[in-house]
Amino acid sequence: VSLEKGLLDRFDKHIRGKSYATRSKAIADLIQEDLIRKEWSEGNEDVAGAITVVYNHHKRELVNTLLDIQHDYQHLIVSTQHVHLSHEHCLEVIVVKGKPVQVQELAKKLKAGKGVKHGSLTMTTTGK
Ligand code: NI
Repeated sequence: VSLEKGLLDRFDKHIRGKSYATRSKAIADLIQEDLIRKEWSEGNEDVAGAITVVYNHHKRELVNTLLDIQHDYQHLIVSTQHVHLSHEHCLEVIVVKGKPVQVQELAKKLKAGKGVKHGSLTMTTTGK
C-alpha cells in the first residue's frame, strides 16, 4: 500500500487522537469496517451486532411493544441485558446474530417504538 504523504500525515494526526498503537492497526480497522459494510449491504452472510435502546418504562404500552417485537425476532436474539438507568429510564442491549437485512429490520422496529429516547445498531462480523 502506498499513500500520498499529505494524506498519511493527516491520517497519523487523526489516529493519534483515537489512541491507536500503530498505523497498521488503524488501517486494518478501516478495511474491516468497509468489508463489514459490504457484507451488510449484500445481505447473504450472517453478522453479529448490538441494538441499544433507551426508553421510559412508565410507558407500559411501549414496554409491551418492545417485548412483542423481540419475541417476533427471537431467532435473531442471542441475549439481552436490561439496566435500570434511573427512576424512569431503562437501557436495553440486545445482542443479535443473523442476516443483516433482518437485524436491520429488528433494530428499525425497536427504535420506532413510541417513547424510545434513543436507539442504535452496531454491526460487526461473526468472525467466520
Ligand atoms: Ni428498567
